[in-house]
Amino acid sequence: MERTFIAIKPDGVQRGLIAEIISRFERKGFKLVAIKLVVPSKEFAQKHYHDLKERPFFNGLCEFLSSGPVLAMVWEGEGVIKYGRKLIGATDPQKSEPGTIRGDLAVVVGRNIIHGSDGPETAKDEINLWFKPQELVTYTSNAEKWVYGDN
Ligand code: GTP
Ligand code: MG
Repeated sequence: MERTFIAIKPDGVQRGLIAEIISRFERKGFKLVAIKLVVPSKEFAQKHYHDLKERPFFNGLCEFLSSGPVLAMVWEGEGVIKYGRKLIGATDPQKSEPGTIRGDLAVVVGRNIIHGSDGPETAKDEINLWFKPQELVTYTSNAEKWVYGDN
């Protein structure tokens, strides 16, 4: 089953939005398979955001990600990579639709509270960067047969 890497950034953790954000993924029907609270080093943040290293905001972004606890998670489900991004909303909260996480809970692009992998390759790379294989928990959730039916 498809998996994606989702992280609540230090602003989301500090603002007490962990339960609110997890709840949106959980209620949708996605399954949590890994979770941990970590303070990443700046070097680690640079690895995570390596694709953006030429951007003018790269340094500030990496400083910010390493400034406090980040809630790192792996969520599983059909279409979870793309739909996870939909739940999160547009990068700039000024442009995120109401009803999305950033639309409802954030105001500026530099403090947009959550990260989600943007495709299958980045999902794989980010899960491998943040988690050891043994930290991913394989289990059958009772809800699955109700979320997916018999097919
Ligand atoms: P992530 O899920 O965090 O990767 O966001 P994204 O995929 O919606 O956007 P992208 O990967 O392009 O940018 C990564 C992060 O950099 C964003 O979430 C923002 O926090 C930050 N960022 C992007 N564009 C800007 C910008 O123009 N200014 C500032 N200050 N930060 C930006
Ligand atoms: Mg991104």
